[in-house]
Amino acid sequence: MGTRVRRFGILTSGGDCPGLNAAIRGVAKAASGRYGMEVVGISRGYRGLIEGEARTLGQDDFSGILTLGGTILGASREKPFKSCDEGSCSDAEAGMDKPERILENMDRLKLDALVVLGGNGTNTTAHLLSQRGVPVIGLPKTIDNDIWGTELSFGFHSAMDIAAESIDRLHSTALSHDRAMVIELMGHKAGWLALHAGVAAGGDVILIPELPYQVSEVAASLEKRRAEGKRFSIVVVAEGALSAEEAALPKKERKRRREAEPYPSIGYRVAAEIEQAIGMEARVTVLGYLQRGGTPSPYDRVLATAFGTAAAELLDAGRFGLMVAMNDGRIGTVPLSVVAGKTRTVPVEHPLLGTARLVGTCLGVPD
Ligand code: F6P
Repeated sequence: MGTRVRRFGILTSGGDCPGLNAAIRGVAKAASGRYGMEVVGISRGYRGLIEGEARTLGQDDFSGILTLGGTILGASREKPFKSCDEGSCSDAEAGMDKPERILENMDRLKLDALVVLGGNGTNTTAHLLSQRGVPVIGLPKTIDNDIWGTELSFGFHSAMDIAAESIDRLHSTALSHDRAMVIELMGHKAGWLALHAGVAAGGDVILIPELPYQVSEVAASLEKRRAEGKRFSIVVVAEGALSAEEAALPKKERKRRREAEPYPSIGYRVAAEIEQAIGMEARVTVLGYLQRGGTPSPYDRVLATAFGTAAAELLDAGRFGLMVAMNDGRIGTVPLSVVAGKTRTVPVEHPLLGTARLVGTCLGVPD
C-alpha cells in the first residue's frame, strides 16, 4: 500500500510479440475508464524512459488496437542496469547513470508508477528499479513462455498457432518428396514453443534444449519410420537445442565449437546430421520472426486483456514490486524479486514430454 496513482507510465521492452497492444489497451482502458488515471506511453522500452521520450495517451490511442500485432509504443532491448564494461555502449552512453536518468525522467513526467510489459530481462530491470524505490508492476509477455513465476505469458499461444500451422503445411512437401523436413522454431533457451507446436502438429522428432539430443536416437527413430513404410519425417528443433556431446562441454568451449561450424543455426546442423547418418534427404525451414508477427490469437487477446486489467487493479490498490502472473489457471501476482534473474525451462518430468513419447515422438534421447 502507498502511493495513490494519478498518472503512470507504460512501456513495452524486449522483443515484440502478439498481444502487447491488447495488454496496453487492457491496462489503459481499466486505469483511465474505471480508475480515472492518466496514462503516459513511453517510447521504445526503457530507452524512452532514459531519453524522456513519452506522451500522454488518450482514448484514441488505445481504441482499435486489440487485434493489432507489434506494439504501438515501440520496443528496445535496452538494459539500463547493464554496465558499459564490455564496450557495448555508445560514447554518449558511457558514463551515463541510466537508472538515475530514469528516476529524473519519472519525476519530470510526473509519473507516480510504472507498468512494464516484457520478458525475463524487462522484469529483472523492473525489480532493480523497484529496489531503487520506483513503484512498478510487471506484465509477462514472450513467445518463449520462459518467465519465472507464471505458467503462461501472452504471445506464446499466438506463436504456437503460427508454428503449428507452419508444420502442418510442411507435411505435404515432406510426403511428396520422401524427405525429412526440419523446422527450427524460436524459444531462446527454453523448449516450450517447440514442444507445444511439435505435439500440436504431430512432429515425429522434437528436440529441445532441456533434453540434449543424441544423433543416434534421432537416426534410429527415422529409420524405424522408414521401415514402417512412412516415407517422410517432420523434425521440430528448438533454436536452443544442443547435442549431448555439446552439453557436456564448458560453455565457452561449446560456443567456440558452434562458431567454427559451417551451419547458420542448429536446424541446419541437425539436417546435415540426418543426411550423414541415414542418407535421407533433409530440408530446413527456419520460421524466424513470422512466429512473433501479426494479430494475436483470440486466447492471447483474452489473456493480455485479463493481465492488463489486473495490472490496473494493482495500480489502484497501490500494490507494487509485483508481476501479474497465471498459476494453476488463475491470475494472481508474484513478487518481482522472485522473478528476477531466472528462466523457466521445461522440467524433464513435464507431463507433455510423456504425452509426446506415448504418441511415438522421438525426443532425441532414450525413452
Ligand atoms: O524472446 C523472444 C525471441 O524471439 C526469442 O525466441 C529469440 O531467441 C529472440 O527473441 C530473438 O531476439 P532478437 O529479435 O532481439 O534477435
